Amino acid sequence: MTPQTGTISCKAVRLHRNGGPEVLVWEDHTLPPPSPGEVRIRHKAIALNFSDINVRRGGFYISDPKAFPMILGNEGAGTVEAIGEAVEGILPGQRVAYVGSGGPFYENTGSYAEVRNLPASCLIPLPPYVTEAQAAAFMLKGLTASLVVNRHFKPKPGDWVLIHAAASGVGIILSQWASHLGATVIGTVGSPEKAAVAKAHGCAHTILYRETDFVKEVRRIRPEGVDAVLDGVGKDVFMASLDCMAPFGHLVNYGNASGHPPPLDILLLAKKGSLQVSRPAFSFHIARKEDAKRACDELFDLVRRGVLKIEIGARFPLEHAAAAHAAVEARRVTGSVVLEG
Ligand SMILES: NC(=O)c1ccc[n+]([C@@H]2O[C@H](COP(=O)([O-])OP(=O)(O)OC[C@H]3O[C@@H](n4cnc5c(N)ncnc54)[C@H](OP(=O)(O)O)[C@@H]3O)[C@@H](O)[C@H]2O)c1
Repeated sequence: MTPQTGTISCKAVRLHRNGGPEVLVWEDHTLPPPSPGEVRIRHKAIALNFSDINVRRGGFYISDPKAFPMILGNEGAGTVEAIGEAVEGILPGQRVAYVGSGGPFYENTGSYAEVRNLPASCLIPLPPYVTEAQAAAFMLKGLTASLVVNRHFKPKPGDWVLIHAAASGVGIILSQWASHLGATVIGTVGSPEKAAVAKAHGCAHTILYRETDFVKEVRRIRPEGVDAVLDGVGKDVFMASLDCMAPFGHLVNYGNASGHPPPLDILLLAKKGSLQVSRPAFSFHIARKEDAKRACDELFDLVRRGVLKIEIGARFPLEHAAAAHAAVEARRVTGSVVLEG
């Protein structure tokens, strides 16, 4: 393979300071050739993950503040366009996806661009039945669900599971997966429209948690309490979630869309029923190559068999990333948001 040389010009959404969606600006960007071990990929689809919003707002990478101008994004899918030296097993024109490309918190961002260079080691070849848009909608969120299900709480027949924000990107996948495994799923949602989506994806019951006391509602539906709460909302629901569980219940707080949960007095877990709490972090799940491959193979297989259906809630042109951020922050979107290159 002849290494590609030369710098190219492209467009990217960049930010020069932290702030609201308005700090995302569509600008010219210059990309050097891929370094040894890297490939250049032309994005067809880019994921909007909630962590992008946290990085945009500032303070997410506390130990490693980013230098401006910066480009957001950890996840995308597209076509290999150029290959650096010492890369093997990747071909130009190959359809690939990636989720994160470096750093324990995936500090190596840069997806909100027409093209980017990436370590070849982080590429996931796409099977023919998964489009680039589906991959961008699904890989990181699906692997987060895989982390919850395979490492923290595996639902089984007879279990009752409460899933917060059940119509969100990760929430929909968890709802489908938990009901497929035989659990009865109660989903909290922010609107009647989201309730319909959550019901279509595996929730047997839904609770409009912005209008009703969800602890009372859970106890009305399941007086004994639930066996697990899967929580990507954090601050607004975390403490009350402890009151929804049956003895020995497990609260898995995987996200913080409403803010960080408050500090927890561990003695409360004893008082409220010998409970467990865990806080998954995605990057550990797929840090080892063999674990990443196993998790991706499982996800692709679940999609191929129709167990997991990929829900693209909204598509925006990449240059309108600011509008996409505003829609997610206003909680107007269900499922995953994809930015199209
Ligand atoms: N642990 C990890 O490694 C890991 C990996 C991936 C994602 N995450 C985190 O998991 C969380 C959910 O991810 P996701 O992809 O499912 O997110 P998403 O699709 O953007 O959905 C977030 C949902 O949270 C609810 N929400 C409650 N309070 C909110 C607020 N103040 N602002 C915005 N939304 C609010 C909304 O649903 P309603 O309108 O129904 O309330 C919203 O649809 C995020 O915090 C994300 O960073 C963590």
